Amino acid sequence: MKIIKAKDYAEMSRKAANIISAQVIMKPDCVLGLATGSSPIGTYKQLIEWYEKGDLDFSAVKSVNLDEYKGLTAEHDQSYAYFMYENLFKHINIDMANTNLPNGMAEDADAECARYNGVIDSLGGIDLQLLGLGHNGHIGFNEPDDTFPTLTHLVTLTQSTINANSRLFASIDEVPGYAFTMGIQTIMQAKKVLMVVSGADKADIVAKAFFGPVTPQVPASVLQLHSDFTLVADEAALSKVVTA
Ligand code: F6R
Repeated sequence: MKIIKAKDYAEMSRKAANIISAQVIMKPDCVLGLATGSSPIGTYKQLIEWYEKGDLDFSAVKSVNLDEYKGLTAEHDQSYAYFMYENLFKHINIDMANTNLPNGMAEDADAECARYNGVIDSLGGIDLQLLGLGHNGHIGFNEPDDTFPTLTHLVTLTQSTINANSRLFASIDEVPGYAFTMGIQTIMQAKKVLMVVSGADKADIVAKAFFGPVTPQVPASVLQLHSDFTLVADEAALSKVVTA
């Protein structure tokens, strides 16, 4: 595990965007695993800026997103498909046909999970997976559990995640109760994993996940076992751990 300390959110975003840029430059047809949420927005903004300057070309890049709410259409302004389009895809030259998310409107959840696993396999796996960190240690929508879930599956969201995500909905009743998420095995099989974490409210979970025991009760802790895991975090998020 490599820890890169940043002064603040802006510096964290620039450092993470640098790592993603290197991936895209070294392998223009790479498969990027992408995340939503507040943590990667600055990273996406930085990538857009460098794309606009002519430094990056996404025309051959393929993407797979971590997760999607069940029951939201791609046009719903809280769907992750909408988030990705608004915060990244519409600003760069990625081919939308090369972008993939679970289909939140799929009626047969098992078939949708199998389809999504098939998509990831057909792309040859993920070159670089970008992650945020939930307050309870979740990655994607893999919530604390007795075992590490492996492949794409449908999850019932915990109350803590519903509460955290309700800030983005008109009311808490509108937050979907279920979501599709990539599993831990798929994330662990990514060649590189990059996590962005910012803010004092994440300091406890950073200490628990990366300086505590590996346990499915803190899903992100499994990343300690990944051979190429980089955590880019700001000083506030690292305030409860000793770093160089
Ligand atoms: C998003 C995702 C989630 C978030 C996590 C942190 O696609 O899978 O695991 O990364 O909930 O969210 P933020 O960044 O909003 O604190």
